[in-house]
Amino acid sequence: MEKIIIEGGHRLEGTVAVSGAKNAALPILVSALLTEGWNTFDNVPDLRDIRTIKSLLADLGVQVETSGSVVKLDASGLNSHEAPYDLVRTMRASVLVLGPLLARLGRARVSLPGGCAIGARPIDLHLKGFEALGAKISLNEGYIEAEAPSLKGAEIYFDISTVTGTENLMMAAVLAEGCTTLRNAAREPEVVALAEVLSQMGARIEGAGTAVIKITGVEALKPTSFTVIPDRIEAGTFLVAAGVTQGDIKIEGCEPSHLQAVINKLRQTGITIEQEPGGLRAIGAETISSTDVKTLPYPGFPTDMQAQFMVLMCLANGLSVTSETVFENRFIHVSELQRMGADITVSGHAAVVKGGGGLTGAPVMATDLRASASLILAGLAATGTTEVSRVYHIDRGYEAIEKKLTQLGGHLERVPG
Ligand code: UD1
Repeated sequence: MEKIIIEGGHRLEGTVAVSGAKNAALPILVSALLTEGWNTFDNVPDLRDIRTIKSLLADLGVQVETSGSVVKLDASGLNSHEAPYDLVRTMRASVLVLGPLLARLGRARVSLPGGCAIGARPIDLHLKGFEALGAKISLNEGYIEAEAPSLKGAEIYFDISTVTGTENLMMAAVLAEGCTTLRNAAREPEVVALAEVLSQMGARIEGAGTAVIKITGVEALKPTSFTVIPDRIEAGTFLVAAGVTQGDIKIEGCEPSHLQAVINKLRQTGITIEQEPGGLRAIGAETISSTDVKTLPYPGFPTDMQAQFMVLMCLANGLSVTSETVFENRFIHVSELQRMGADITVSGHAAVVKGGGGLTGAPVMATDLRASASLILAGLAATGTTEVSRVYHIDRGYEAIEKKLTQLGGHLERVPG
């Protein structure tokens, strides 16, 4: 298992380009299941999760061709309705094939997902939604089995706003008979991007980006082309990197409108963030101000930025409270940050961070995708050397992270474990 060794204390400076969004690319690649013929998707990041979904789609009979960041997919030869355990266990988002398989083939057999160890993360709301559309769902030997000779539009209310749940249901409903209304739908930019792709394919969708999405089913969809939106979490991670190293970073190719909550919060800490042609520029402050943060579904502060933000708070000049309301058990990075000298007390869904003590390099272990990003940020800011093991977590979601940070002046090296 590879490690990333970081020599801390170097100011990050320069320009970095943001990759395509993993969380947008995953459902978009999966949407190819709904069509026959070649779809072309550009700006697809080269990440472990993306390779996993391509393997899964290929396993279902989809032809997949990759050239750089362009991925072409043709699902004319779709010949399986089963997503096996080996492919699904490493990535929860594999469950996204359920909706399109049900819509195209009338049945799907998908292993219960694995993925990041952040709380229970059930998929009950996806399944309730499919049931509302007329599917029969059962659980056999660790597999979800869904059957629906025909799907019928329905009113679906999500008890909790769920991103992949909304995407999954949207992909089933586009080929269902009649109208489907998704209420308390997720409003994330990745949901909007998927709705755009589906609309280009010929789907009839209204309200994506709001809490009520109306879908009128159509007979069939046609292939399309689309450029994946930039990764707002990667961009946010670089914004924090400027803050923790008192750096000056221009982040190219990001979409500032997707980052409003993050920009707003980071400005409260003293980071100067300016919109420039082609992206954002972030300049870290000498003194970082403590500020409380609460994670919420979009447009609130993203849970996927919580761990990175906490590193900034470890370096800030006082007490702050981070409240995690989206996932339970999403403070597993805390014990690793404590090993680096952070003063953090967790109580239920809140973490109280007493900043100002500085961070010192230490061997630490990545536990999930965003936690590993926080450890890298902590390593950049710490005195001495930090060794982050289990970096395969970070490779799920950050393209060439150590190369991008090295290009900005960070001292990082990937070594065999
Ligand atoms: C997606 C993102 C992930 C991000 C998360 C929240 C992808 C591939 N992943 O994950 O990076 O952290 O949104 O922004 O896009 N829930 C249920 N039942 C369900 C579904 C969800 O109780 O059937 C709960 C979850 O446990 C969680 C909350 O709803 O507490 C939100 O989860 P959800 O939005 O579904 O997260 P994902 O779509 O898995």
